[in-house]
Amino acid sequence: MNGSHDYGPLVELIGTWHGDKGVDIAPTSDGAGEIPFHETLTFTPVGEVTNAGSQTLLALHYQQVVKRKSDGEVFHHQCGYWMWDAASNTVMESLTIPRGVCVLAGGTWKDEKDEEGRILIEVVARLGDEDWGVIQSPFMRDNARTGEFIHRLTVGNGRLSYQETTWLDIYERLFEHRDSNELTRAV
Ligand code: HEM
Repeated sequence: MNGSHDYGPLVELIGTWHGDKGVDIAPTSDGAGEIPFHETLTFTPVGEVTNAGSQTLLALHYQQVVKRKSDGEVFHHQCGYWMWDAASNTVMESLTIPRGVCVLAGGTWKDEKDEEGRILIEVVARLGDEDWGVIQSPFMRDNARTGEFIHRLTVGNGRLSYQETTWLDIYERLFEHRDSNELTRAV
């Protein structure tokens, strides 16, 4: 399906990835917990989407399933879309997690590559931002508010790594909830 479309910087993501170097730093009522994890990440081409007759996006659907190394239990589940708008050089990630939180993050793609020629992608969202924002349930807004989300990906040569920072207002403090992993292409 992706053969006839130009997914721009997203093209390298298409496929299924596995990684066992995941590290999650999550809030606890008395500090922080560090949880090592396994992950499967799948990006499926959706094709072209036209908005208001004038904007053309190329979209990938993705699903992320994260299991604790200690017991194999799924403890994070996430899905969404990555979108590429070639006319404005914009990359977008829309995501939802089953805590009652949705994010639409965006960024300008700067055509940056690392020393191995791998593509660098960064998207950001902030609570209250008119362009790239956060929607959360009343409970989460009042008790575990997401204020900012920053996602950096490096992809190419069959390898994908990411660092994700989610700033939370929880347990009466600001907490830097961090996740990272290094994955290799399975399919
Ligand atoms: C690999 C990715 C992620 C993993 C493994 C992960 C894991 C966790 C864990 C273990 C907690 C502690 C609460 C619990 O025990 O369930 C937590 C809390 C939380 N996470 Fe994540 N998370 C990830 C990504 C995200 C993202 C992308 C968001 C939102 C943009 C998010 C939002 C939250 C919020 C709002 C909480 C506070 C809820 C609470 O601790 O009671 N997380 N996460």
